[in-house]
Amino acid sequence: MSLFGSMNRMVTITINKNQYLAEEGEIFLLTAMRLNIDIPHLCYEKALEPYGACRLCMVDVVTCGKTTMTPACTIKVHNGLEILTDTPEIIKHRSLLFELYLAEAPKSEVVREMAAKYGVTKTRFLKKIVHDDPLLGKCILCGLCVRVCNEIMGTCAINFINRGPYTVINTPFFEQNPDCAGCAACAQVCPTNAIVFDDRGSNRIMQSWSHTTVPLATCSSCRKSFAPEKLMQKVLNNLEPEIIEEIRTLCPECRRKLITRKEVGKIPKS
Ligand code: SF4
Ligand code: FES
Repeated sequence: MSLFGSMNRMVTITINKNQYLAEEGEIFLLTAMRLNIDIPHLCYEKALEPYGACRLCMVDVVTCGKTTMTPACTIKVHNGLEILTDTPEIIKHRSLLFELYLAEAPKSEVVREMAAKYGVTKTRFLKKIVHDDPLLGKCILCGLCVRVCNEIMGTCAINFINRGPYTVINTPFFEQNPDCAGCAACAQVCPTNAIVFDDRGSNRIMQSWSHTTVPLATCSSCRKSFAPEKLMQKVLNNLEPEIIEEIRTLCPECRRKLITRKEVGKIPKS
């Protein structure tokens, strides 16, 4: 068996002139994080193919003495990889981006705190006006919510709307979208906690997405509303029919109780 179990081959890389062993093929941003080398980043999400949207994780890749600025989340580790993470150009680029994000998402504590950590507390750019912004003045337009909705959930309920400085994310025509399953995966991946939703009675209201209202399933045992009906349907469609029948209408807690009761029932009485 290999010394490193099922891991890929270990290779030698150089970061800021120091040599390290790293796993071949790993995303460089993850390698750096594991080695406690600080690189700011907002749009890396392991469930999605990296596409370098926020540009905050830029590093210099050194090839034959020449440097190329590249997002760390798009670099795959290979033998001999040489990276510089904090050259004056990189620091300048980051600071400018932080200023832009402070203007684009003036209400985001995540952006504010990250920028302050890198010494940026003010912006020279005009701050976005945030009255009635469904994303609370916290959106950096990274597009993760759109991608998770489209690529993972296969729903396409939201998208980029308008262009340039008027670009926003929302449902088509800012109307409630019946395609939205209310899964809230968008809120889960949003790096700035910009997406708001609320479970009220038997409905989930996606406030950020034009108040799209999605019915919640009610547990047949405890009568609590627990998950969006459409999402439940999707999940149940992937299970064996005999399992489905028993648990179809139960919330996770009642499901657990049922399974525990069954397992306990199997223990022979002494
Ligand atoms: S709402 Fe969040 S995930 Fe969607 S684009 Fe804005 S910052 Fe990114
Ligand atoms: S995390 Fe790499 S570009 Fe956003």
